[in-house]
Amino acid sequence: MAKTPLPMKPTGWFQVAWSAEIAVGAVHRMHYFDTEMIAWRSAAGQATVMDAYCEHLGAHLGFGGTVDGEIIRCPFHGWEWNSEGRNVCVPYEKRPNKGRRIRTYPVEEHSESIFIWYDEQRRDPYFGVAAALTGFDDGKSEADYYPAYGHSTLYEPGVEIHPQYVMENGVDFAHFKYVHDTPLVPEFTRHDFDAPVSYVDFTVAFDDVPADEINSGVQAINSGIGVACTKSWGMIDNRTLTAVTPVDATTSDVRFTTWIGRKPGDDSPEPTSRALRHAAGVIEQFSNDVHIWKHQRYSDPPALSPKEFAGFTAIRRWATQFYPDDFDPVAAARAHTTR
Ligand code: FES
Ligand SMILES: [Fe+2]
Repeated sequence: MAKTPLPMKPTGWFQVAWSAEIAVGAVHRMHYFDTEMIAWRSAAGQATVMDAYCEHLGAHLGFGGTVDGEIIRCPFHGWEWNSEGRNVCVPYEKRPNKGRRIRTYPVEEHSESIFIWYDEQRRDPYFGVAAALTGFDDGKSEADYYPAYGHSTLYEPGVEIHPQYVMENGVDFAHFKYVHDTPLVPEFTRHDFDAPVSYVDFTVAFDDVPADEINSGVQAINSGIGVACTKSWGMIDNRTLTAVTPVDATTSDVRFTTWIGRKPGDDSPEPTSRALRHAAGVIEQFSNDVHIWKHQRYSDPPALSPKEFAGFTAIRRWATQFYPDDFDPVAAARAHTTR
């Protein structure tokens, strides 16, 4: 394993849980970006992610904090905090403490997942998270897919990787043959790295068909550096969501979700065994990537072949926009190679 030279506090959206993990009334402890956080869900169903420590005397709300309607109550002296992190009640005073606020994080919830916006400079979100099932503008909805949570998800906590490694998969045509066992390397049809949300499309086949007869592919939407979703076409109808969320200076939690298209007319709440089999195949392919990333050392500058140059240069330039302004990739590379 090798510590990444890339900044582990990038700006953007990051998955911190699956929705089903945060039930109404539940308080969930988590640690991301070197920060103790909690997630809780109000009676009305709203998920809140905030720093874990009470602004009063510093109790950890994840150890005994209770949700009551739309507030969370601290276990130490009963102060109540709302979903904006504002104090709304000090039980033994006439008025709440209006001056103190617990830091909360903007939340997006869809694709069976909870995402938070993280930014060192505390700017408001300036892009969104594309939804895995409805974000491809093809008229598909949640109803067209079997549910994923509890059936077709993979959670790999505390892996020594940086989110950028995973994004680089999207331009890395050469790994498909070796890591994913495709007979041919994919053909990229779109590389659009103009904005924080970027797009990669390619044609690929997992079966042995002649190159000029490939009629299947993948479209990917990268919502910043932390979250990517894909849609497959011309093969088993599946969608995926890949999320890498930095925990501390060296490790990230990896979450992977895959949805399989419903058999027409089947509205069962459970995936069929055939769908589960396909999902297991998709997860296995992803696990093959994780196995490489886990042990990879970030290479900068990398020894790229002529065909790889444009794609990797584009994605690495795109990635720097999510890093602090004082991040100097050249210095990081130098420090890294002289370690
Ligand atoms: S520490 Fe939370 S109410 Fe006192
Ligand atoms: Fe891959």
